[in-house]
Amino acid sequence: MNIPFSPPYIDKDVLDEVMDTLQSGWITTGPKVKALEKLSADISGVQHALCVNSWTSGAMLVLKWLGVKEGDEVIVPAYTYAATALAVIHSGAKPVMVDVLDDFTIDPKKIKAAITANTKAVITVDIAGWPCDYDVIKNVLFGDDVKEVFTPANDVQQQLGRPLLIADAAHSFGAIYKSRQSSLAADVTVFSLHAVKNITTAEGGVIALNLQQPFDNGVVYNWMRLNAMNGQTADAFTKTQKGNWRYDIVSDGLKVNLTDVCAAIGLAQMRKYKSKLLPDRRRIFEHYNRFFADKNWAILPPAISDERESSYHLYLLRINDITEAQRDKIIQLVAEVGAATNVHFVPMPMLTLFKNMGYDIKDYPIAFNNYHNEISLPIYSQLTDEQCTFIEEQIEKAYRAVVK
Ligand SMILES: Cc1ncc(COP(=O)(O)O)c(C=O)c1O
Repeated sequence: MNIPFSPPYIDKDVLDEVMDTLQSGWITTGPKVKALEKLSADISGVQHALCVNSWTSGAMLVLKWLGVKEGDEVIVPAYTYAATALAVIHSGAKPVMVDVLDDFTIDPKKIKAAITANTKAVITVDIAGWPCDYDVIKNVLFGDDVKEVFTPANDVQQQLGRPLLIADAAHSFGAIYKSRQSSLAADVTVFSLHAVKNITTAEGGVIALNLQQPFDNGVVYNWMRLNAMNGQTADAFTKTQKGNWRYDIVSDGLKVNLTDVCAAIGLAQMRKYKSKLLPDRRRIFEHYNRFFADKNWAILPPAISDERESSYHLYLLRINDITEAQRDKIIQLVAEVGAATNVHFVPMPMLTLFKNMGYDIKDYPIAFNNYHNEISLPIYSQLTDEQCTFIEEQIEKAYRAVVK
């Protein structure tokens, strides 16, 4: 067998859409990006969604809108991909890492304990597609005690009156929280359209705006659109209209716009997300669940409850009573017979950059506990039942060989 971990979904519709773009005479930000924004907004239940060229740049743009700068703090979970904290560092602020719960999501009690007068935002992460418990987190952020310590430094922060809740939904496009799209839970939700994500544009991201009164999401969308393209008043597409050459630069914007060529890939995929791609993912997740459910050595990942449903991005299997070295050996044995598995994630305090900044994994015992015995199994539409069975059997075989 040769089972890759996360090949992109490229069918004839994707090829046709990309070819259509290439032949249209317009390849950078234009009508395909607009169409992808409309579809992303429709699926995620918001009025305004802005496409950018990665999750990371999207988060940077949101922090720029909030006016986050040096001396500010943004709370993030220790258990996530490094980009969650890097976006904060790029804004000049300090990422303040807190520990997670057993289900991989950020611990709301730890958020509360980490809030100071410098806290400007909290970035929560829906790991593997499993949404955080947003109402509990909002109870913390909307509490009078938090509002009292919040120290606004500009008009946006003044209007907000509390730290901004940003969802790192890199994995969770299409996830459900309390019977609604999970993107209706946080103030701003940022999806990733990176090559391995549920929907991909090779590299890309979507900012879904869900700000409440007194904010006008249309106005915020326009600000972000402008500041995703050098702060330029007329984008290149508008300037192609005859006679429309004049423009101004009105702010020190980033240059993080998505291109139409990339948007075309995601557009064709997104059109069949709810009818095919997401149900396919669920089928694979359930296949794994059926196999591992009666294995007393396996800890199944969270996926569905009365209040939440995952977007089935990855299957985060954990194995009882094994060491980090034994986990690594299992991954190696399974790789040798042709199946790629993975680990999501090495907690950030274990990475050199963050260690050098003073973070220590000893302060994040649950993050380490979730990581040391975790093996991510692949989920994607093209994966057949036969391949799933192969992966399951090889994991069990490797487990028995390693543990004896
Ligand atoms: C949890 C999480 N957040 C953020 C990112 C960054 O996404 P992007 O590569 O689109 O910037 C990733 C990418 O893997 C991720 O897994």
